[in-house]
Amino acid sequence: MCGIAGYIGHRQAYPIVVNGLKRLEYRGYDSAGIVLYNDQKLNVSKTKGKVSDLEEISNKDNNHIGNIGFGHTRWATHGVPNDVNSHPHLSQSGELAIVHNGIIENYDTIKKELITRGYTFKSDTDTEVLINLIEEVKKENNCKLGKAVQLALTQVIGAYAIAVFDVNKPDEVIVARLGSPIAIGIGKDNKEFFVASDASPFIEYTKEAIYLEDQELAIIKLDRDIRVRKVKDDSIVSSPEVLELEMSLEQIEKGGYDHFMLKEIYEQPDAIVDTYRGRLLANEGIIKMAGVDDNMERFLNANRIIIVACGTSWHAGLVAEYMFEDFARIPVEVEYASEFRYRNPVINEKDIVIAISQSGETADTLAAIKLAKSKGAFVFGVCNVVGSSIARETDAGAYTHAGPEIGVASTKAFTTQITVLSLIALKLGKANGALSNASYHSYLQEMELIPNKVQELLVINDQIENIAREYKDAPNCLYLGRGFNFPVALEGALKLKEISYIHAEGYPAAEMKHGPIALIDEQMPVVVIATKKGHYEKVVSNIQEIKSRKGKIIAIVTQGDDTVKHIADHVIEVPDSEEAFSPLLTTIPMQLLSYHIALMRGCNVDQPRNLAKSVTVE
Ligand code: AGP
Repeated sequence: MCGIAGYIGHRQAYPIVVNGLKRLEYRGYDSAGIVLYNDQKLNVSKTKGKVSDLEEISNKDNNHIGNIGFGHTRWATHGVPNDVNSHPHLSQSGELAIVHNGIIENYDTIKKELITRGYTFKSDTDTEVLINLIEEVKKENNCKLGKAVQLALTQVIGAYAIAVFDVNKPDEVIVARLGSPIAIGIGKDNKEFFVASDASPFIEYTKEAIYLEDQELAIIKLDRDIRVRKVKDDSIVSSPEVLELEMSLEQIEKGGYDHFMLKEIYEQPDAIVDTYRGRLLANEGIIKMAGVDDNMERFLNANRIIIVACGTSWHAGLVAEYMFEDFARIPVEVEYASEFRYRNPVINEKDIVIAISQSGETADTLAAIKLAKSKGAFVFGVCNVVGSSIARETDAGAYTHAGPEIGVASTKAFTTQITVLSLIALKLGKANGALSNASYHSYLQEMELIPNKVQELLVINDQIENIAREYKDAPNCLYLGRGFNFPVALEGALKLKEISYIHAEGYPAAEMKHGPIALIDEQMPVVVIATKKGHYEKVVSNIQEIKSRKGKIIAIVTQGDDTVKHIADHVIEVPDSEEAFSPLLTTIPMQLLSYHIALMRGCNVDQPRNLAKSVTVE
């Protein structure tokens, strides 16, 4: 889950590459490096640490000059985070340079073979093995770099997005992908090209990009063109699709907020509106969604819906399970993609699989999709990144229009995923008659009110900050919810875990009595969702059970609740709404609570340790 950024053109590459790496740092941030071509030499600067550390090293190395450059920000897989394992890596002769995102699974076998041919290795990485394999193939076949890369890649097993450069051929760059994403930004009249893991590093330079498909390789020739070929047989890909990019520079900057996470929490009202714009026509009682409309027969005749996802997207899938079964009476199973892909699940052509992913690049979810397709299921994608691998791999889909989500902890992607899934469930419930006209129309009206209710809710930020101050040193925390809000309890716990490193668990409130209640004492903060329409009385008795064991209760209740405030230590009020939509409200205080606690514990909120924004390796 590394970030690659590169440039070949007539400008100075250094500022473009370094700036690009900063925008990709959410993908991995344990080491960084750059190689610049200047004066017929390859000049490499690399270091353990962040891109800011790389800038210091480049200054010390006085390595800034060159119209061609490639950089990398790393999330270690093979070889610990240190200077020598960071990228770029050079081949044994020093003539070829590579940056790589992914894992070469059979690197050890290849390494052993190369050692018998006299190669030595400076690092522990699979990437250094790959560049030396390319060098050996080039020598053996006396062929051009593009051909050598193609031949070498037919020998490797695993995932890769790579950019390879030859000091003897300074007007050409080879990029290729399998599993890990790579985009090529096309400059005016092919006078310059940008290469990156996503479009954010070059958005202000060009709005035109080619996203390589799996098993594709591109030969980029400066001032000339891009030729795309198939890795497996070197066949030409005649007209690779050039995408017009929608993203804007403003969208990928902090806009005055201290952190991307806080900015993205505050963007949720607009993100929800953007997500149902042109889809939700509440006054006409219509939901327009081409991906569903075009496949309505399949949806209505499906035996069941299987949702596959990871992390926060999996939690959105759980909320969707409640919705699809409640609104449309369609049976739903929610699967961890990483388990689903290896469990040999029973799937057939009568099943619909919905794959949910913010990044659209999560390897386990991508593999689960391919498995489902191979067994004849129809796969529908819910993604946030336009042109991402999952968006292109699925049979149909719907984008969440949350805009770029840069904070590693997912926030607006979660609420916009729930928004899209609610629209689909309502549409199917209407179409198969499970939902009465009256309910359908009242749900549509209520959905339109949600963004304002979220906006209204965001004023509680200061109150949440005060509560956070009281619990920032808690060693553990429990989150409880029932029904539609059980997945929100899981999500709240995940948010706290991933950015504040406090151990936290989410549970169905009634599950407490079957074990977790043993954890309760005056040290244990318990966040409980007790909204009026969701099994309220039962949750109130759960709160009393915790109170009688001196647990500290932070209760999320419906505005005007006059009961829980007499039991709980803290009460956070959310606007009233349909229970099915309450996850779009109850999740906000949880996002803010984890944000403030993490901040007070001095954690890096946007780039928490050991994590990365999109998990492109399994
Ligand atoms: C959530 O905050 C995490 N970043 C992580 O759990 C994430 O949801 C998971 O990796 C899935 O990512 P995706 O939605 O991009 O597939």
